[in-house]
Amino acid sequence: MSLHNKNILLCITGSISCYKSIDLYRRLKKAGAKVKIIVSDAATKFISPYIFESFGEEVFEDDAFKSPLSHIDLSKFADIILIAPATYNTINKLAAGIADTLITLTVAASPDKPKLLVPAMNPNMYANKILKDNLNKLAKHNFYVVSPETGNAACGDFGEGKFPEIDDIIFGVESVFKKKTLNGRKVLVTAGATREYFDPVRFMSNGSSGKMGISIANAALKAGAEVKLIALNIDDRIQYINRRIKIISRTDFNGLKESLFDEFKKSDILFMAAAVSDYGFKEKSPVKIKKSGNTGAGGTLKVELMQNEDLLKAVSKIKKDGQIVFGFAAETGSAIENGRKKLSEKSLDYIFVNDVSKDIIGGDENEGFLITKAGEVNRFEREKKESLAEKLIEEISFPA
Ligand SMILES: Cc1cc2nc3c(=O)[nH]c(=O)nc-3n(C[C@H](O)[C@H](O)[C@H](O)COP(=O)(O)O)c2cc1C
Repeated sequence: MSLHNKNILLCITGSISCYKSIDLYRRLKKAGAKVKIIVSDAATKFISPYIFESFGEEVFEDDAFKSPLSHIDLSKFADIILIAPATYNTINKLAAGIADTLITLTVAASPDKPKLLVPAMNPNMYANKILKDNLNKLAKHNFYVVSPETGNAACGDFGEGKFPEIDDIIFGVESVFKKKTLNGRKVLVTAGATREYFDPVRFMSNGSSGKMGISIANAALKAGAEVKLIALNIDDRIQYINRRIKIISRTDFNGLKESLFDEFKKSDILFMAAAVSDYGFKEKSPVKIKKSGNTGAGGTLKVELMQNEDLLKAVSKIKKDGQIVFGFAAETGSAIENGRKKLSEKSLDYIFVNDVSKDIIGGDENEGFLITKAGEVNRFEREKKESLAEKLIEEISFPA
């Protein structure tokens, strides 16, 4: 999802991390949003409004009396009010219903608009029970929060309270706009490729990058689910996985099988996006196989492969009423026909089939067909895996 044509009212309050809102502003613009900015009096001590003016933006300083209806106009403009950074002072004022600054007054005039707070402060201030109680109170009134990070604050204290990564804030803004179709659901996703070892250092694998599975996990989180991701050899992509997703790292078929059966029991829906090896090695050498003594005529090394169990089929067999199993299949022709066959053989609820001859494996984009248990076939044109994943998530419906 992009933020194309979304109107974002960015409110900056007086934290030492105010300078990070410049980066945030640029990312919001890059994502296609229209942005208006209010800076509190305290914030102007840390950054100059002139920075945003030099980007061509109109900046509202904290004087509600300068232009009599600015709080009403700004409220009408906003699809979302993003307060980043949000100070201890402003958060507590909002919870008390105080409206004595342009920011708090605009929020007061916007009860039906979503408000996203990005608290940033000293760890002791963030741990203060007054703040915690007030954040809980605000959660009942259309306020959302992007949790701060744990680390060293500017003052040197260690703990929770640091301004989060910009990616997390953008993710939070996008999440606010998403329909919460998976609210309260437990979602399990597998992503990446298994590695089958035939000695301690050598393995057989495939080119799956894990991007589709990661995109599904992120999209499910935005849709309100609690998400766990069984991650197979995707350490290089860990930064793309939202930090609210619980990651279970496994390497090979056996590890995946163990976690899959363990976690599936606790899940409402499984997305099996990992590329699981159909074969493993019959024997695994406990030591690195040396060239001398093992190489046969013509420079060959003989290893024997054994077919692995079909995990998707096996997990579907233990599926309980109300659970959903969503499979992914890579085909090189007759995608719909093969997809239908797999869906029925493996008792799946949904299958997404793609034609891997179209340079999809490992790439940023995907296309294919979603086939449902009821026999419906829906074509999805080529697009970024992130946006495709959001569309696939929207297609899920739980049995009544
Ligand atoms: C050097 C300095 C750094 C500050 N950093 C923070 C901060 O990171 N978070 C916070 O909540 N308050 C911080 N404050 C306190 C706020 O600036 C102060 O409470 C102010 O009244 C906030 O007003 P506002 O919420 O209208 O912007 C800091 C104050 C000073 C002097």
